[in-house]
Amino acid sequence: MLVVSYIVYLIASICFIFGIKKLASPKTARQGNQLAAVGMLLAIVVTLLDRRVLSFEWIIAGIIIGSAIGAVFALKVKMTGMPQMVGLLNGFGGGASVLVALSEYERIYFGNQQFEVNTMVTIVLSILIGSVTFTGSLIAFGKLQELITGKVIKYPFQHPLNALLILGVFVAGVIVVINPSNIELLLIITAVSLVLGVLLVLPIGGADMPVAISLLNSYSGIAASMTGFVLSNNMLIIAGALVGASGIILTIIMCKGMNRSLMNVVLGGWESAGTSGPSKSVSSPKGQVKSIDSEELAMLLDSVSSVIIVPGYGMAVAQAQHAVRDLMTVLEKKGVKVRFAIHPVAGRMPGHMNVLLAEAQVEYDKLLAMEDINDDFPNTDVVIIIGANDVVNPAARHDQNSPIYGMPILNVDYAKTVIINKRSLNVGYAGIDNELFFYPNALMYFGDAKEAITRLVNELKSS
Ligand code: TAP
Repeated sequence: MLVVSYIVYLIASICFIFGIKKLASPKTARQGNQLAAVGMLLAIVVTLLDRRVLSFEWIIAGIIIGSAIGAVFALKVKMTGMPQMVGLLNGFGGGASVLVALSEYERIYFGNQQFEVNTMVTIVLSILIGSVTFTGSLIAFGKLQELITGKVIKYPFQHPLNALLILGVFVAGVIVVINPSNIELLLIITAVSLVLGVLLVLPIGGADMPVAISLLNSYSGIAASMTGFVLSNNMLIIAGALVGASGIILTIIMCKGMNRSLMNVVLGGWESAGTSGPSKSVSSPKGQVKSIDSEELAMLLDSVSSVIIVPGYGMAVAQAQHAVRDLMTVLEKKGVKVRFAIHPVAGRMPGHMNVLLAEAQVEYDKLLAMEDINDDFPNTDVVIIIGANDVVNPAARHDQNSPIYGMPILNVDYAKTVIINKRSLNVGYAGIDNELFFYPNALMYFGDAKEAITRLVNELKSS
C-alpha cells in the first residue's frame, strides 16, 4: 500500500472524528455531516486507486445506481420515517460485511493459501455480527414501516432457543477457526446467524424499535470494524469502531431517558409499548378535566410574561412545527419570553424535536434540554404542551406501580398554568393514562396540533 494512501486514510479518519464531534450540537451538525461525507469520499477514492482495480465498469454502475437510490430516499423519506430508513441502511452495512468476509474466505480457500488464526477469527465475527445485523434490521424496518405487526411477538421457548443458537454459533465459530477448511460449517454459521437476527428482533415491540435500531447501528459498526481486520484496512477499522461506539452510547442515552434497562428493551419487556390501551396493573386517574378553546386561550396568553412550549410526538405526527414557530413569533411580538423544553426521548427518535424545530427556523438557543430548564417551571406563567404525553406524566415521579416510574420527566405541573394540546385523553407510547390532565392547574386544548395551534395564532393576531 502506498504511503500517500495511509496519509489520506489518516485525514479521512480525522474528518470522521471531527464530524461526529460536530454532530453534538444542532448548530454544527450540518457541517459535521458534510465533513464526514468528505472523509468518506477521500477514503473511497484512495481505496479505488490504491487497490489497482482492473475494471471499473461494475464499480461505476454500482456508484450510479446506489447514488440514485440514495438521492431518491433522502429526498422522499419524511422525518417521521427516518428511524426505519436508518434501520435499512444499517442492515445493508451488516450485509456488506458478511459478503466481504465470505469473499475473502473464498479467495484464501480457493487460492490454496494459508488461513491465519486472526484472519479466521475476524471472518467468523464479521459473518456472525453482520448476518444478525442484516436480518435484524430488515425485521426492524418491516415493523416500523408496518409491513409486519409492530406488536411484541413471542414464540415458544424464546429465551432458551436463542441462548442455544447463540452458544451453538460460538462453538461452531471456534471449530471453524481451528479447522478453517470446514466450509460447510461456515455456511451453517452464516445461515443460523441470519435466523438469529430475525428471532432476536421479532419480540421487540414496534415502538421500542428506535432503541433496537440504535443498537443494530452499533452492531453494523462492529461488523465493519471486524471486516477492516479481515482486509487489514485501518480506515475501515477506525470508521467501524466509531459507529460501534457512538451507536452504543446513543442506545444507553435512550434507555436512560426512558428509565429502561437495555435488557428490558431487547427482551421485549414493555409489552404495552406501541399498542394502545393502558397497562392492566395501573389505576386510571379520575376527576374533572377542564378544557379551553382557542379564543379563551388567546385571552389568557395576552396577559402573561413567560411561556415554555413542550413539544412531543404529536407535534411530529401533525407536522405542526411551522405553526408552533408562528406561535412563538406572535407571542414574542407581544413581549412574552418564549422558550422550548426538550425531553431527551420526546418523539420517537433521538433529537426528533430539535430537528423539526430547526427545520421551522426556531433558533437553537431557545431549545433547552430538560436538565437546563426543569428548575424554571415554578417561575413560568404558562406551559403549552403540544402532543407530548409520557414525558410530562407526573406519575413517573411518585407512582411506583407505573411502568414509567423513575423516568426523568419535565416538571410542567409546577408552572402556574399548564395547557395540553392533543386530540383526546388517549395514552401515548407507554400506554398509560396521564394524571396531569386532571390537575387543578391543567387545561386541555383539544385538537390536531397543526390545526389547533394555527387557530390559536390567528386568535392571537386578531386580539
Ligand atoms: P407520547 O407519550 O407518545 O404521546 C404523544 C401524544 O401525542 C399522544 O398521547 C397523542 O394523543 C398525541 N397526538 C398524536 N397525534 C396528534 C396530533 N395530530 N395532534 C396532537 N396530538 C397528537 O409522546 P412523548 O410525550 O413525546 O413521549 C415519547 C415517548 O416515546 C416516551 O415514552 C419515550 O420513552 C418513547 N420513545 C422515545 C424514543 C426517542 S429516542 N425519542 C424512542 C423510543 C420510544 P391523542 O391521540 O389524544 O392526540
